[in-house]
Amino acid sequence: MSESITSVLQENRVFEPSEHFRSGIGPNYVPDLQTYHARFKRSIDDPSGFWGEVADGFNWFKKWTSVVEWKLPDARWFVGATTNVCDNCIDRQVRDGHGDDVAILWEGEPSTLATTDDAEVRRLTYSQLQLEVSRTANALKSLGVRRGDVVTIYMGMVPELAIAMLACARIGAPHSVIFGGFAPPAIVDRAQDAKSKIIVTCDGAWRRGHIVPLKANVDEACEKLPDVASVLVVSRTNCPVNMRAGRDHWWHEIVPTQSTDCPCEEMDSEDLLFLLYTSGSTGKPKGICHTTGGYMVYTAFTAKMTFNLVPDRGQVFFCTADIGWITGHSYIVYGMLPNRVPTVMYEGAPNFPAEDRIWAMIERHKITHFYTAPTAIRAFMKWGDEHPHKHDLSSLLLLGTVGEPINPEAWIWYHEKIGSSRCPIVDTMWQTETGGHILTPLPGCTPTVPGSCTLPFFGVDAAIVDENGAELPANQGGLLVIRRPWPGMLRGIHGDRARFIETYWSKVKGMYVAGDGARRDERGYFWIMGRIDDVINVSGHRLGTMEIESALVSHESVVEAAVVGIPHEIKGTGIAAFVTLAPQYKGVADNALRKRLMDHVSKEIGPIARPDMIRFTASLPKTRSGKIMRRLLRDIAAGKESTQDTTTLEDFAVLAKLREVDE
Ligand code: PRX
Repeated sequence: MSESITSVLQENRVFEPSEHFRSGIGPNYVPDLQTYHARFKRSIDDPSGFWGEVADGFNWFKKWTSVVEWKLPDARWFVGATTNVCDNCIDRQVRDGHGDDVAILWEGEPSTLATTDDAEVRRLTYSQLQLEVSRTANALKSLGVRRGDVVTIYMGMVPELAIAMLACARIGAPHSVIFGGFAPPAIVDRAQDAKSKIIVTCDGAWRRGHIVPLKANVDEACEKLPDVASVLVVSRTNCPVNMRAGRDHWWHEIVPTQSTDCPCEEMDSEDLLFLLYTSGSTGKPKGICHTTGGYMVYTAFTAKMTFNLVPDRGQVFFCTADIGWITGHSYIVYGMLPNRVPTVMYEGAPNFPAEDRIWAMIERHKITHFYTAPTAIRAFMKWGDEHPHKHDLSSLLLLGTVGEPINPEAWIWYHEKIGSSRCPIVDTMWQTETGGHILTPLPGCTPTVPGSCTLPFFGVDAAIVDENGAELPANQGGLLVIRRPWPGMLRGIHGDRARFIETYWSKVKGMYVAGDGARRDERGYFWIMGRIDDVINVSGHRLGTMEIESALVSHESVVEAAVVGIPHEIKGTGIAAFVTLAPQYKGVADNALRKRLMDHVSKEIGPIARPDMIRFTASLPKTRSGKIMRRLLRDIAAGKESTQDTTTLEDFAVLAKLREVDE
């Protein structure tokens, strides 16, 4: 384990909770550390009492008989209760007299000048959302979708994406959102695994002024998906598309004519709300299962506490993630709408048409909460301070980061240049599997240290342990585990019970193993040191090295491939591939072939998986048992002379060869 834990960051600067924040936010839910510790203790000692009270703030058709039942590894939350997530996100707000409040503030990408107000903006109130979602839900029903059917969604960041998800929740059809940057084979894998018969998509998506051909990608995927009977298509870019009669339907033709009457289905608390596929150690992505009651309560409550959301105080929350990832699910849609703070959805790239787009948006919409990833912050830094300086960012109250450890330089830049040294930064650590934040500062409460995600969220019994589950002393690197259930935890991997147990519950007996190496300092603060499995975190996106290797090997020229992460200035981790070519290609191991292989990976998985570096090699270093020696490859790729013990190397000559620049 310790082999994977590479960095031991030393950082001692402490930033106390800011007065600016405390005075600007209204009610400060957790005003000081003492309150945090007392509430945290209660949440651990009396989870039923704690979460029962939190859940009382939601609308249930039927109350639970018990708050939590735990039979390792299966947790059930709000047992016996029934509710509907869409009802709690939308209808409830309308019933309570807030129908005219803005629920979603959407900005389209096309714009000639980021600094002018020519951007396309849509403000959807809760009432409008209720009508749109109800019509869409009826349209899905008219296409044969029934409670329990998985609806695949492959769209750009348009309001209809959130509408489609909420429509699914309304009728009890779990959705499976596939990131719009993925390529057709990724759609095939996921739709097949979910046995989905319907795909909701767009004609195309705007990205940096270009059109991503989403519908064409769906068409290609559908060649291998005979069970997909309907495709519902939003017209966004007006790019040419082929509509297959009987299968394909335009959204604007079938949704607006539907009835707006569509009551929310009464769902059991443990009914599946959605699947979201994420990478793991094997080549096959896993469909993480999140259910209704626990996920709803956990995401809305973490959003409320971590961001100190207060309705009616002019707060505007902007999370830059794509809804194709868990961050977008939880903190653009499901965690936000129940809190009644407008959630901003931005369609496009942060540097289109210019590098000040995000700052222009903050000024334009008087955004108070800004939540992004360290990779984006590093890109902003590189683009230059003049871009944020051009804009009035004084509306900002709070900054957040997510997705990967943040390097202290980026933290300080974010704090000073964006937050004017007065906005707290919440470094939120969590995963697709955890549903919501598990380790995070609370603003106005937790002193922060750049690079640390600080303390556990309420109810999260996190610890650093060794393989036997023994808690490790301060500053010793070990496994990050959670020792008891929390409401937002995954309930399984779709259709693969064995993998669920093997991945999360077998490494340390009786505990959830997150897959991250971490340490805790003297203060009790957590420091994430990186993944301990074959997962790499590229620009805050999780990719399995095996998936990329499989994509490479699927190219006719490649016999064997090994993929490792390398330090990358912007992405945090870049992708390095070591490739062994088929004999007939050995003579053409050149840059043209490298580029072809890079393009091939983009085509198979998506541009995010495109290797940054490909090195051709006669063979790969392996242990006697045939395992590829990734540690060694990581060092070689990073240009470090390996300090690892290589005595298990099967063939020392391989190592020597790899150290040569190229064959
Ligand atoms: O390694 C951790 C890293 O991202 C992984 C989870 O990836 P994913 O499921 O795609 O979800 C990302 C967004 C929630 C974790 O196992 N990670 C996430 N947030 C942080 C982080 N590492 C350090 N600090 C964070 N704040």
